[in-house]
Amino acid sequence: MKFSHAVIRKPGRNFSLGLTTRSLGIPDYELMLNQHDAYVQTLASLGLDITVLDPLPDYPDAYFVEDTAVVTPRVAVITRPGAESRQGEEDSIEPVLSRFRRTIRIQPPGTVDGGDVLMVGEHFFVGISKRTNQNGASQLGAILDRFGYSWTAIPVRTGLHLKSSLSLVSPDTLLITAALAEHEAFRDFHKIMLDQDEELAANTLWINQALVVPAGFPHTHSKLEKLGLRLIDLDMSEARKMDGGLSCMSLRF
Ligand code: GLY
Repeated sequence: MKFSHAVIRKPGRNFSLGLTTRSLGIPDYELMLNQHDAYVQTLASLGLDITVLDPLPDYPDAYFVEDTAVVTPRVAVITRPGAESRQGEEDSIEPVLSRFRRTIRIQPPGTVDGGDVLMVGEHFFVGISKRTNQNGASQLGAILDRFGYSWTAIPVRTGLHLKSSLSLVSPDTLLITAALAEHEAFRDFHKIMLDQDEELAANTLWINQALVVPAGFPHTHSKLEKLGLRLIDLDMSEARKMDGGLSCMSLRF
């Protein structure tokens, strides 16, 4: 799929108050802004028309916009984020996405984080995780069914989200952790297996014939080079401290 747009939100000065399960130190705001700016410039250089939103002061995690929606070619599903402190972020995304798509909202008690949803053509893999519950996945699945897509639920046993453990890197190839690779749902894909000590590289972005990858994972980098795509390394150190990856910081469509 060719992407033409991205919605991105600038991190707020209080971004270090967001949720994290990592113990990688206190993130630095100026460095975060520099890394975020490089991210925005990279997506723009790949031909995306970028909408940059202002920080939401009451929501330090709000720059992880991916969790607030699942944007498909036919409909944008506005999620209900699974972390209580993030519920409400989606209210400010709906008016932005409604300029591009019809929008439909996930209703309580359902919860869905967009980080749990991987689109592969007309099929969606939906992680059931600490953030996305069964009710939310079923609501999302019913909307996907209605718009002519298919979907599969995948239990997420490690990492924050489904996409903490896999990415689509070509139409039929997944970059994936060993644990997830065994799942029956992925049996027909080619798989590029992550080294155990490079599993933090699982979250990459395949955009318009380029792969944006987190810097600092040399084995993963050389495995991905074989795909023949342009590889762009981005330093993600500060977002990683807040449990964030490359996909988390944008909605691409
Ligand atoms: N800090 C990202 C999240 O926990 O949702």
